[in-house]
Amino acid sequence: MNKPLIKHTPINYEVVKNKIEESGLENIGLASIRELVRLVNEIEQETGEKYIRMEMGVPGLEPAQAGIEGEIEALRKGVASKYPMIEGAGILKKEISRFVKNFLNLTINERNCIPTVGSMQGSFATFLVSCRRDVKKDTTLFIDPGFPVQKQQHHVLGFKYETFDVYNYRGDKLKDKLESYLKKGNISTILYSNPNNPSWICFTEKELQIIGELANKYDVVVMEDLAYFAMDFRKDLSQPGVPPYQSTVANYTKNYILLISSSKSFSYAGQRIGMMIISDELFERKFPDLKRFYKTDGFGYSMIYGALYSLSSGTSHSAQYGLAAMLKAANDGEFNFVESVKEYGERAKIMKKIFIDNGFDIVYDKDEDQPLADGFYFTISYPGMSGDELLEKLLYYGISAIALYTTGSERTEGLRACVSQIHRSQFNDLEKRVKIFNEHYPN
Ligand SMILES: Cc1ncc(COP(=O)(O)O)c(C=O)c1O
Repeated sequence: MNKPLIKHTPINYEVVKNKIEESGLENIGLASIRELVRLVNEIEQETGEKYIRMEMGVPGLEPAQAGIEGEIEALRKGVASKYPMIEGAGILKKEISRFVKNFLNLTINERNCIPTVGSMQGSFATFLVSCRRDVKKDTTLFIDPGFPVQKQQHHVLGFKYETFDVYNYRGDKLKDKLESYLKKGNISTILYSNPNNPSWICFTEKELQIIGELANKYDVVVMEDLAYFAMDFRKDLSQPGVPPYQSTVANYTKNYILLISSSKSFSYAGQRIGMMIISDELFERKFPDLKRFYKTDGFGYSMIYGALYSLSSGTSHSAQYGLAAMLKAANDGEFNFVESVKEYGERAKIMKKIFIDNGFDIVYDKDEDQPLADGFYFTISYPGMSGDELLEKLLYYGISAIALYTTGSERTEGLRACVSQIHRSQFNDLEKRVKIFNEHYPN
């Protein structure tokens, strides 16, 4: 579509144009999150204008006090000088196991609850074991859209992957689509995040059952990335030991690894600690092909003393005590961790309305027949514009986001918006800016 050149934009047109040119990015739509962060930092610096920064998923809330106190106490007791056990400190393993019982209703042996240096390390270690357990199964299947860094991990490792955008395959349609990949026999691991980064879709029970049953049929490991644990705010998942619980594929298969990050649910991203939970059955299983890389054929043993040992010899000692303290407080019903992050859902609700009222559409808008939850991310598009074009144009209006294209989404018209860094005091600016945008590009 041929659009008029508009120069009276909320942020100085020439500065934005020059900074985009200077950035050397040929296509802003293909820019990584960190490249966009740098570009917007530079524009902000030069113009003195504050952007509505929706490009990066950094927690925008304070960390739980229990965690900080737990870490300080552990440091005072001298843990800094001691190597942590690779499988994790006993006190933390116990609280992870309790947490999994209280908030997922799963019974897991403490031994199989392992701290990792963020879920980022958890996924790397999972790939090192799960994708090498069977010579014939050398490929990961990403149910996209997804978190781009996990694909980067595959590139770094030289591992193969296949991917599809789940947008057109929700509900019953997921079965045939998944099976079309699994029946080829080369898939070792299925990976998705739930709630999903970037689209904030949440799989329904029916969909999780389909995934679990197919994982059983084709003996595939499901790596369920719960980076946004309990953040489907449509349900109250905050009460320990009381249903409803966080939905999980673990109700339908024993072939699973759960990754629970502390970064978002506990606003603890800086300390780089997450949890890996391996099902009791999978931990015990033997895969002779693992011996190509590890001393034993045991899945759990290879994970701890093969992969995690090689990566970092365990997780920061004090962070383990911090996480243990937060989990204990949550398990004992003394700290409502969900309540402390609900703010994201409330922000999303208001921000989505501002965009919709000004001509934007929500791209991923339903979980089967249910409206999507409001949470950490949402997705937007603007009629008649590609994602690249929209991303670039919005920069002139003081709004930054990332293109869905970079997340394995086929919805090339869409952008991912992250609410975490937007304070309520900025909602007026956001409204003014999208209003002007809508006036400049009427639809
Ligand atoms: C889906 C998903 N998985 C994993 C991570 C990384 O989590 P961590 O900070 O625990 O390494 C993120 C962070 O944004 C994420 O969105």
